[in-house]
Parts: sequence; C-alpha cells; structure tokens
Amino acid sequence: MSALPPLPAGIPRNLEYAAGRLRVLDQTLLPGALEYRDCATVDAVAEAIAALRVRGAPAIGVAAAYGVCVALAAALGHGSGLDAQGASRALAHAHDALGATRPTAVNLSAALEAMHDAERDALAAGVDPPALLAALEHAALAWHLDDAARCDAIAAAGAARLPTPARVLTHCNAGPLATGGIGTALGVLLAMHAAGRDVRVWAGETRPLLQGARLTVWELGRAGVPVTLQVDAAGPSLLLAREVDAVLVGADRIAANGDTANKVGTLSLALAAAHAGVPFYVAAPLSTVDPTLASGAAIPIESRAAGELRLPGVALDPPPGAGVRNPAFDVTPAALITAFFTERGTIEAPYDFSAPPR
Ligand code: MRU
Repeated sequence: MSALPPLPAGIPRNLEYAAGRLRVLDQTLLPGALEYRDCATVDAVAEAIAALRVRGAPAIGVAAAYGVCVALAAALGHGSGLDAQGASRALAHAHDALGATRPTAVNLSAALEAMHDAERDALAAGVDPPALLAALEHAALAWHLDDAARCDAIAAAGAARLPTPARVLTHCNAGPLATGGIGTALGVLLAMHAAGRDVRVWAGETRPLLQGARLTVWELGRAGVPVTLQVDAAGPSLLLAREVDAVLVGADRIAANGDTANKVGTLSLALAAAHAGVPFYVAAPLSTVDPTLASGAAIPIESRAAGELRLPGVALDPPPGAGVRNPAFDVTPAALITAFFTERGTIEAPYDFSAPPR
C-alpha cells in the first residue's frame, strides 16, 4: 500500500488490504464516526459495497478487485489442501457475489474482468493456489495504483481548464472516498487548492443518502477548501443567477456517445447549466467509459430500497396505494456536457473516447 500516492492531510484512506482482509472505511457512518470494517470474507466485501459502506464508481472497482483476493485467502485459510478446483469454486462465487452488488458503475465489472484475466494467466502458468493468491493480490494492487494515477492525471486536466478564481458547483461525492486516489471531480478541486488557487465550492446535499452533505463537505472541509452546502433543489437557481463558473461532477458509466450516468440530481444541474450558459464538466477515468453501449438509454440504473427516502425522526411512510421511486442515478445527455476531464486530458465534443488525444 505504501506505493499509493499520499492523500491530502486529514483525509483517511477508504480501503486497506493486507493479509487476506480488506479494511473498509464505513462511509455510512461519516462524518459522525470514523470506523473501519474488517472484511475477512467476500460476502462481507459484497455487503460493504451493496450497503454503500464503500461507494463511488472507481472505489467500488478497487474494493471488488480486493474482494476477489479476500475470497481466495479465506478459502486457503479454511484448512489444508485447497486444490485448483476448490480455488476456482471460491473465485466463481466471489465474481457472482461481487458482480451482483451494484449495477450502474461499470468500474465494478471492469475490475472483475481484470481479476479474471489475472486468474486465467496465473492458472495457465500452472501455479498452485497460494501462488494464485499472490498473483491476484498483485493484480488488485495494480488496479488500485492505476486508479490513483488516473485521478492525478484527471486533476491536472481539470485544473488546466478551470478559471481562477473558480466558483464550482458539484453533486454527490467524487473525492478520495470515492476512488483509489485523490478523487475525480473533487480531485481537480483539491489539486487547485493545493496549488494555492482560489477555489470555492457549492455542494448539493444529494438526497436521499446525503453523500454531498456527509462526505463532500467533510472531505473539502478537512482539506481546507471553502465549501457551502445547499439542498439539491437550490442548484438550478444558483446557476441561473450566474453565481457559478462551472458545474463539475463525477460519473458512474459513460456510454460511447458521451451520455453520462451519475448520481440522481445531476441531470437537473446539467439542464440548468445549459440554460444559463455555464460550462458543465464531467471528471472521470476512461475505465468509466462503456464502449459497448451506444447511448445512455442502455445504461442500467440502480433502483434502491424505498426505505432510503425516510428521514430520521420524520414520519414519511407513503399512504397505502402510493408508490416510492428511488433511482440512484440519472443520465445526462452528451449534448449538455461541455467536456470530459480524463487521464488522457480534456476530451471535447464530438466525443470519441478511443481516439488519440487532440
Ligand atoms: O451511489 P454512490 O454514492 O456510489 O454514487 C456515487 C456517484 O454518483 C459519484 O458521483 C460517481 O460514482 C463518481 S465517484 C468518483
């Protein structure tokens, strides 16, 4: 883990893997408590992803990669003589359990595919289960390091494009907690702040699970970036009042044409930004692009439990006959996106994520 680039002072690492166990910083408890959960089984890792103890598309991918290692380490620890078939069974269960956790972030399936490739290569070389575990641990750490490096490059691209001073509106949480490094959208802002530039942030609270209020405000506050919290519905009027220089968000899955799934509430900001003539940027690694989907219409949108809409202390049960709709994401059409900040630099419309950088 020491090879990972440092995070800004005061911001804890979200994931720590060692000796077959994954320590997950439980983001559902933040900012009230800073507690790690020790995951010694793949089912515990899968539960942590599904319950949003670890969340954010790139971080989900990193957790899944380590989850595969946890599965094999647990199987090896169950006693003597794990053979190749037993290892394959444990890994097949791991892929099923982890792959079923959250449908929208493509980083999850991309990480699992990379782990599958590492497993296939190691088995082709005829390794025994302990050596297979070492190969998988190497692959998971490589995935983690790669994500951290992508974050740094994304930050450089965004920082080169945004003005100084910059008044930026963001949504949800796309910071260190959500990635393997310094974050995507928040990584840009943290890098600008670290370089001494004047950055001020508006954060939407991000109903219903309050990733903006609980996590973004906390992270930016710890790093010393000036941040103002507002209800999600206040974003469009702030944009129309031209009090914002740019909207900057992360992404969970980007279709080949640039349509982008991100936390529900992103689309209303994009619509308002277009109306106000304010640039709307998406910061994301190219591992978030799904080239198999021609447009955002095909992006699977996670539907979460009705109970998440309840507020503590507020009687919010819908009357009999009334439904509850809780989509976790929405899709912003590419036409509303000014540009993407990626590890390959800034990508402008018309979007071609496979083309060499211009
Ligand atoms: O449901 P979440 O909290 O996992 O949703 C996270 C987001 O929508 C983020 O904006 C996105 O994953 C990018 S994180 C770098």
